[in-house]
Amino acid sequence: DRSYRIASIPGDGIGTEVTAEATNVLGRAAEVYGFDLRWSEFDWSCERYAETGRMMPEDGIDQLAVFDGILLGAVGFPGVPDHVSLWGLLLPVRRAFAQYVNLRPVRLLPGTASALAGRSADELEMVIVRENSEGEYSELGGRHNRGQPGEFVLQESVFTRVGVERIIRYAFDLARTRTGRVCSATKSNGLVHSMPFWDEIFAEIAAEYPDIHSEQMHVDALAARMVQQPDRLDVVVGSNLFGDILSDLAAAVTGGLGMAPSGNINPPGQHPSMFEAVHGSAPDIAGKGIANPVAQVLAGAMMLEHLGEPEAARAVRCAVEKVLADGAVATPDLGGSSTTADLGAAVTAEL
Ligand code: NAD
Ligand code: IPM
Ligand code: MN
Repeated sequence: DRSYRIASIPGDGIGTEVTAEATNVLGRAAEVYGFDLRWSEFDWSCERYAETGRMMPEDGIDQLAVFDGILLGAVGFPGVPDHVSLWGLLLPVRRAFAQYVNLRPVRLLPGTASALAGRSADELEMVIVRENSEGEYSELGGRHNRGQPGEFVLQESVFTRVGVERIIRYAFDLARTRTGRVCSATKSNGLVHSMPFWDEIFAEIAAEYPDIHSEQMHVDALAARMVQQPDRLDVVVGSNLFGDILSDLAAAVTGGLGMAPSGNINPPGQHPSMFEAVHGSAPDIAGKGIANPVAQVLAGAMMLEHLGEPEAARAVRCAVEKVLADGAVATPDLGGSSTTADLGAAVTAEL
């Protein structure tokens, strides 16, 4: 009925600053396109952890389950160890709601500069399909012989057949709607169990998609290609950790972390999906009001698309592009001196 319940979790640092702007932009989009966004804000954060000893309440997942979408700022801030804050909020949400696809589209927007001199927009359009529920992100392992000369840790990875198949299949299906090319990130020369298994499943699924050009590259060489020949890449599929690293790299070659949105998608739609910028809470600039809100605004556009409001999503993207192309309002990372609020307001006004 075009009325959507949205949970907003601004989180920490610049997460709160950019989420405020994204919320305004989406509110304007709802007005213009005639639908209703019903927001509930949750103060789950490192600040809350300091007060209560928890990042979110014990029934936090149940509280979120009733929403149509989740907009998350960023989680993590100095003072709380990162593995405590992230495993107390962001990672459990991704898992509990089986958001096993982390979709990270990157493209060079008008008026912004790639870190790669001389590259044009049409050469720089990719999407990272990151496995988001298992892999190297695991609580299995342990620390042994603490304080002794033979001290060591074990950090285990978990790759399930179901988990690997579904992410790779998602990448191939996505490639059919784009350029028809998939590149898989592997590291089967160094990792003897996980990556050979990943590669085997990739080959099996590639055989089901004879119309799609598939290749695999060792993730180190792939990182180099992303910088030197980004035009040879379109859909890049990778494990949780490889996808994480490649998505910051892809963001950097297309204008910076301030520009890159992401969606944590539950493809069957049984649970809410969650949208956030690729970047984190940026403690180095937090509180100054100078963070670039574009990534979070574009994450909001991904959410609108997911909710079934593609026209509004397109309008938000167009408004961002117009403002960036015009260049009069730009945050410091874009070479300007405008504030987060200035840039957010300019996008809202353009809408
Ligand atoms: P970061 O992405 O927060 O910052 C990296 C660099 O990019 C910093 O110099 C920062 O100022 C800059 N930057 C990031 N976003 C920007 C924006 N919108 N505008 C302008 N500049 C921007 O990465 P980090 O420093 O490794 O992480 C900081 C904290 O955030 C850590 O606690 C980390 O665990 C957490 N983190 C959370 C998420 C998330 O919640 N999704 C993602 C990444 C990192
Ligand atoms: C991201 C972040 C998270 C991740 C961290 C904060 C756990 O870097 O969303 O890219 O690695 O998934
Ligand atoms: Mn990351």
